[in-house]
Amino acid sequence: MDYKVADMKLADFGRKEIEIAEKEMPGLMATCEKYGKTKPLKGLRIMGSLHMTIQTAVLIETLVKLGADVRWCSCNIFSTQDHAAAAIAKAGVPVFAWKGESLEEYWDCTYRAITWPDGKGPDQIVDDGGDATLLIHRGYQAENDASILDVPTDNHELQIINKLLKKVLKKDKKHWHNVAKNVVGVSEETTTGVHRLVQMEERKELLFQAVNVNDSVTKSKFDNIYGCRHSLTDAIKRALDVLISGKTAMVCGYGDVGKGSAEAMRNERAQVMVSEIDPICALQACMAGFKVCTVEDALPYADIYVTTTGNSDIITAEHISKMKDQAIVCNIGHFDNEIQVGALEKWPGVKKEVIKGSFCPVTRYKFKDGHSVYLLAEGRLVNLGCATGHPSFVMSCSFTNQTLAQIDIAKNPKRKVGVYRLAKKLDEEVAALHLAKLGAKLTKLSKKQAEYIGVPVEGPYKPEHYRY
Ligand code: NAD
Ligand code: ADE
Repeated sequence: MDYKVADMKLADFGRKEIEIAEKEMPGLMATCEKYGKTKPLKGLRIMGSLHMTIQTAVLIETLVKLGADVRWCSCNIFSTQDHAAAAIAKAGVPVFAWKGESLEEYWDCTYRAITWPDGKGPDQIVDDGGDATLLIHRGYQAENDASILDVPTDNHELQIINKLLKKVLKKDKKHWHNVAKNVVGVSEETTTGVHRLVQMEERKELLFQAVNVNDSVTKSKFDNIYGCRHSLTDAIKRALDVLISGKTAMVCGYGDVGKGSAEAMRNERAQVMVSEIDPICALQACMAGFKVCTVEDALPYADIYVTTTGNSDIITAEHISKMKDQAIVCNIGHFDNEIQVGALEKWPGVKKEVIKGSFCPVTRYKFKDGHSVYLLAEGRLVNLGCATGHPSFVMSCSFTNQTLAQIDIAKNPKRKVGVYRLAKKLDEEVAALHLAKLGAKLTKLSKKQAEYIGVPVEGPYKPEHYRY
């Protein structure tokens, strides 16, 4: 059996939800239609490490229709929708993902998705957060210098990765060199994954080309903003069924995800505070009517805390020890280090109680002074841990970019190692594919007008660097 999912009996339910999602994903459906005959991904082995949701199932089936041989895992231990995974396994795509994986299982799933039955790796990768790319690069570095796996670390996840890599190294001393040699490129979904890629490029460690999908306008200015605007409050409500109106919310970070999150809380009629390090984003928050202050300033007032920064140690254990009774703390940034969960667990006298398990993780921490705080999704992505992530329409924009990025890599196999973006014209095409579904009608630019503003009649309609 070349898959591992929670329960194959969920496959028919998964298929019904996939069919519903397809109707809300016009970009992916149009891409299937446009490229279904020519099959630009024919024969290519594509592995994906991206939340195994219903929307991702539609992406996977798009890649298959375009000719790819696909294997998949999730990029988060809590984000898999088990019915989606089961439907994909039933359709014959090897998938290794279930909701509530342990970290050991998570990295084992990533390894299995990267490894085809003949022991070889993929031609192309779809990554979200960079874990598949990390495993290959760290494995490669360990084959050059195995001592890196013995450097003492108190990072539990790194210990698990090191253990896995030692096992692989013992079996084959050139495994990751061979895998890396075969990989033509990776397309990266999210802000944090792109940061990792750029850092690797700067350190001259990057082994293959990468396409930054996140910074397509139809990704970051839609998924990160409007997706989070929808799925943040969905998650808080599923977790605790609490009324947000009238409460005070502290949103840490006012980038794209922060803007969507702050708006979501305001739409619920919460009083919203925002923290920022960047004066421009801070000023934007002021102009939007939010109170800009520090986490410390918010402690006496805030009932709900949301981290959105992609940075670490935003909410410390000490902050949590000083919060109001019944405060709710959650994170919607990619990794689990925005909130100091490890230090919280070790806080003197704190008592931990699991309220709900991995189907919708909610934990209560009771302090010696009697106040309690709720932590959602163990500090991991709350919208995918406690809810079902962004809705299909917004993911259609993101995943149409992903599919175009995979085609772009396939068309440019010899491109120099580096981090690339998709052409602006493609970004506009992705947007155009979604307009009809909303009943929108574009105005046609005349030749005279095009000349007047200095763009081609057929677009792109704004300069490449235009920020939106
Ligand atoms: P961004 O760079 O646009 O925004 C991050 C903001 O945080 C920036 O404005 C930055 O100045 C601010 N920041 C950094 N350190 C801070 C600190 N110490 N205190 C306060 N503010 C601080 O990034 P983004 O696109 O908004 O993404 C944010 C995170 O969310 C990333 O990890 C990204 O991968 C993730 N993401 C999650 C989802 C989801 O569905 N949950 C979707 C898209 C992106
Ligand atoms: N990221 C945010 N929401 C998602 C979803 N529904 N599917 C896959 N990735 C996501």
